[in-house]
Amino acid sequence: MDISTNVLRQLKNRRQGFSLAQPFYVDQDYFKLDMEMIYYSDWLFIGHDCEVPRAGNYFTVQIGDYPVVIVRGRDQVIRAFHNSCRHRGSRVCASERGSSAKLVCPYHQWTYELDGSLLFARQMAEDFDKSQFSLKPVHCESVGGYIFICLAKNAPDFSPVRASIEPYMAPHRIGEAKVAFQSTIIEKGNWKLVWENNRECYHCAANHPELCRTFPETPTVSGVQGAISDPVITEHWQRCEAAGLPSEFRLSPDGQFRTARMPLIEGAESYTMSGQRAVKRPLSQDVTINNIGTMLLFHYPTTWNHLLGDHAVSFRVLPISAEETAVTTKWLVHKDAVEGVDYDLEELTHVWTETNDQDRRIVEENAFGIRSPAYEPGPYSEIQEGGVMQFVEWYTNFMINRLQGDQAKLS
Ligand code: FES
Repeated sequence: MDISTNVLRQLKNRRQGFSLAQPFYVDQDYFKLDMEMIYYSDWLFIGHDCEVPRAGNYFTVQIGDYPVVIVRGRDQVIRAFHNSCRHRGSRVCASERGSSAKLVCPYHQWTYELDGSLLFARQMAEDFDKSQFSLKPVHCESVGGYIFICLAKNAPDFSPVRASIEPYMAPHRIGEAKVAFQSTIIEKGNWKLVWENNRECYHCAANHPELCRTFPETPTVSGVQGAISDPVITEHWQRCEAAGLPSEFRLSPDGQFRTARMPLIEGAESYTMSGQRAVKRPLSQDVTINNIGTMLLFHYPTTWNHLLGDHAVSFRVLPISAEETAVTTKWLVHKDAVEGVDYDLEELTHVWTETNDQDRRIVEENAFGIRSPAYEPGPYSEIQEGGVMQFVEWYTNFMINRLQGDQAKLS
């Protein structure tokens, strides 16, 4: 039985409400299938508009086998390209980020315009047609200061994502922010373990002393029940919506993305040890009330986010191998906020730096135990792990749809 048929059969026969079988977390062939069906075919959050504020600014990213460069053009449009020269394939941009009037391949100096067109290739044959050798484009969309790309030839419709998340993001003006700090950690665990851990706070009280000072561990905040029965949350939504901040829980019909503005623990404004704001100069003038809590956005498979009154924190999940995942965290503040004046970097980053490291250890211990021949899928807590069940359900349905679609094309 080929791998696709085997995975399809296993997912269809999966025991509901239980974690996945071992190969989904450790097997290299299952991992390749995850990459092909999800990471190489759907929309991925990759970075922020404010990371390329001027024409010629670029950053690079590696998604599985694909090196990609994201660059702002002279027309201010942000574009993405396969970072592979059309001459003999060298990476055109080797550094993580930079700025350049043109994109020049370091190997033989083929020179590309910021829109990807080939401008100059020295000493080629007279009939060489430059127009046939532009950098290959990657689908690229920007919404609310967030850049999404899609590596597929034909990208899925992005408009439902845009329509849903833009109103929630707009008041925070992330497009006009700056990255005050970023960190990338490598977690030795499958990307789905990183997500499963993120989608519940069952583990928070015992593992996250810093985060638990301000983030409520109640499942109505982190889960997917919609929190309609929680009067604290519904009152929070009413107060924020009256101030022009979209807040109510929204989950996309396919379960891939969610927005909801949730209260922090009473009196807390931000993710600091004191609960007070970390940044004096708020992100946006459009937020006119205090205590707005955190706007939670997730979009599978690459991002979860916390948008607060004073700053925002974005997270990006990129698999490296079946058992390694890179998690990049960015702390965003107002573009004119000054370190040492408007914020103290240690105070701004402390809670999530600690929380990330605690989560890394949790995921690695989880992965360690799953490698045991004695591992078998275990039951989720319906009370505490509704978010994990929802993630695994989304993964299962997404994979089944894609695998069946592929098999239908072949038959
Ligand atoms: Fe890029 Fe030769 S490989 S110029």
